[in-house]
Amino acid sequence: MEAQKNQKCIDTVVSQIKNQTSLERVVSQRAFQMSSSYPCQICVLGFFSGICITTVFLAALTSFTTFQFASLSISAYPTALLSSDFGSTLSDGVAHNVSTTEKIIYSEKHYSELEIDERVYLMYSSWSTFLNKSIEDFEHQDSTRRGLPTAPKVPHLESCKLHVEVNQHLDKRMENQLLPPWTIWKGTLQNYLLSSAEELLRNHNYRPLPGVSYPPWITGSDEENYPLTRKVQSDIWFRQHPSNCSDSSIKFLVADWERLPGFGIGAQFAGMCGLLAIAINERRVLVTNYYNRADHDGCRGSSRSSWSCYFFPETSQECRERAFQLMGDKKAWEKGIITTKENYTSKDIWTGRIPRVWGYPWSYMQPTTEINGSLISHHRKMDRRWWRAQAIRYLMRFKSEYTCNLLNIARHEAFGLEAAKLVLSSPTEKYSTSASGSERRRSDIEEFVWSNHKPWMPRPLLSMHVRMGDKACEMKVVEFEEYMRLAYRIRSRFPHLNSIWLSTEMQEVIDKSRSYPHWKFYYTNVTRQVGNITMATYEASLGRETSTNYPLVNFLMAAESDFFIGALGSTWCFLIDGMRNTGGKVMAGYLSVNKDRFW
Ligand SMILES: *[C@@H]1O[C@H](CO)[C@@H](O)[C@H](O)[C@H]1NC(C)=O
Ligand SMILES: *[C@@H]1O[C@H](CO)[C@@H](O)[C@H](O)[C@H]1NC(C)=O
Ligand SMILES: *[C@@H]1O[C@H](CO)[C@@H](O)[C@H](O)[C@H]1NC(C)=O
Ligand SMILES: *[C@@H]1O[C@H](CO)[C@@H](O)[C@H](O)[C@H]1NC(C)=O
Ligand SMILES: *[C@@H]1O[C@H](CO)[C@@H](O)[C@H](O)[C@H]1NC(C)=O
Ligand SMILES: *[C@@H]1O[C@H](CO)[C@@H](O)[C@H](O)[C@H]1NC(C)=O
Ligand SMILES: *[C@@H]1O[C@H](CO)[C@@H](O)[C@H](O)[C@H]1NC(C)=O
Repeated sequence: MEAQKNQKCIDTVVSQIKNQTSLERVVSQRAFQMSSSYPCQICVLGFFSGICITTVFLAALTSFTTFQFASLSISAYPTALLSSDFGSTLSDGVAHNVSTTEKIIYSEKHYSELEIDERVYLMYSSWSTFLNKSIEDFEHQDSTRRGLPTAPKVPHLESCKLHVEVNQHLDKRMENQLLPPWTIWKGTLQNYLLSSAEELLRNHNYRPLPGVSYPPWITGSDEENYPLTRKVQSDIWFRQHPSNCSDSSIKFLVADWERLPGFGIGAQFAGMCGLLAIAINERRVLVTNYYNRADHDGCRGSSRSSWSCYFFPETSQECRERAFQLMGDKKAWEKGIITTKENYTSKDIWTGRIPRVWGYPWSYMQPTTEINGSLISHHRKMDRRWWRAQAIRYLMRFKSEYTCNLLNIARHEAFGLEAAKLVLSSPTEKYSTSASGSERRRSDIEEFVWSNHKPWMPRPLLSMHVRMGDKACEMKVVEFEEYMRLAYRIRSRFPHLNSIWLSTEMQEVIDKSRSYPHWKFYYTNVTRQVGNITMATYEASLGRETSTNYPLVNFLMAAESDFFIGALGSTWCFLIDGMRNTGGKVMAGYLSVNKDRFW
């Protein structure tokens, strides 16, 4: 009888996993095997915590639709691990629906019977379920006092829904007020204020400090960013978010993203940076329109074919609507209230005038770029370098939930096992409260302060973008060995550096990385270019969704890494450089294997 139920339970786990395509990819085969040898243990994360542990497993559910991993009640369970993060919220959501008679008190296992590797795989596999958005809906059921979902404590994953909610709030003007709620109170700390009964305190703290602006997407101190970054970012935001879009004095520039074949993803970004410059110079609100790379099934609803699939839109919904309404208005065209990309030459877009409304901040840029062994203090077109950095940072200021999930998946594939090891090797149960997960209330410091921390990655992390392929026609190809030489150079100064996030289209580069056993390489699992096929052919073979998502994930990982090595001669690395220099990473320095073509 019990054996039967066990079998059913295994089947459920396996079929559940198989139903989820994203899981299929990430759950290791190993975990499946284990879940059969120790039935249903895949749902148990707590084996390490004691000798005999009793797990309660929801097998034999009549309705499998609500089945999820989890639901365990373990006496010595490490609350800090699962409680109030995904684990317990999941079990809450499910357990309520299951009558207790359907639970099976299952196994008694000795801690020593499981190898450390197996426990790591179990934990890793169960975390995989959290990659799917629907998990966060479970979180919502467990909403805290103020209706906010709880943040995950799986160290390398981000609670995407929560972050989007917080950022949506920050990307709007407050009601009846002219300002967005930007203060030095970061992220969810704003909600702490909202929840506080002390109106006075709230009003006081909401008032921005005079003359100082804190666009919430900028991190790092002012001296760790390009000159005037905070000022410029908030100014761009205000220009792109007029308080009344219907005001007759507001002019618009509506532009599609470049889509000529041959324009790489980086060139598309760079082109839009040029259009943003034009919009600033002509005092127009930039409205981006058709984005071919978001024209795939991953981008649902109104985000289809739109920048908003990947990042928050560049302007408010009201302004977008107003602009599209004016597109059909002949008078608006005659009066020059509306223009499109076709009103400008490619020279205007690609080499147009950099906005001077902030003076000449590029003349104060710190020399932190090294090329061929020397620091570069001055070069041509410093203004363009500064501007592209500001523009791309503005356009990518807040990730969409879709992008956030892509990054979760990438981090999980790359760092998930290590994260599991980390958690398992630092058990905290002795010090946690004894209450079971669902009873334990999250403390304010977890909910409001620590929830704003970035997800864990093995640091320091060096990111490397190695581009060969058909770039060869534009610039001298640099061999992978040269990149590695620079990596060793960084390591000679920072001996704790060991990890490299390798971003490349070339299979050859991945193969070569195997001859550097003293480094740990991470890279996304994607089919790579072999031989001399062109970039366009290669991208077409990946399909639109993959050929956009995987470079974008690498781009954002590069922007977050501690160090970066790239080729300034490629537009892509040039933009990564810009993101880093507006992302608090100026002082990390930048080692480039070559110069920009135009310097
Ligand atoms: C319980 O199950 C019913 C029907 O199967 C469903 O409508 C309901 O939403 C479930 N409740 C929970 C908390 O999952
Ligand atoms: C999550 O699961 C749903 C179906 O349950 C699926 O449509 C969706 O694509 C999944 N999301 C991710 C990010 O894998
Ligand atoms: C916005 O401007 C339009 C036109 O000037 C005006 O009719 C409308 O009342 C204004 N809306 C607000 C909220 O001020
Ligand atoms: C923009 O182009 C349209 C169509 O070619 C033209 O009617 C309009 O006058 C142009 N606007 C400006 C400001 O040049
Ligand atoms: C790099 O520097 C060396 C000596 O400093 C010089 O001989 C060489 O030409 C430089 N290479 C490039 C590509 O600038
Ligand atoms: C990489 O992806 C391919 C298919 O997309 C899959 O067959 C392979 O097992 C994956 N490799 C790893 C290490 O996940
Ligand atoms: C690509 O490689 C193939 C075989 O290696 C060769 O025949 C062909 O000429 C190459 N094409 C280009 C454009 O270099």
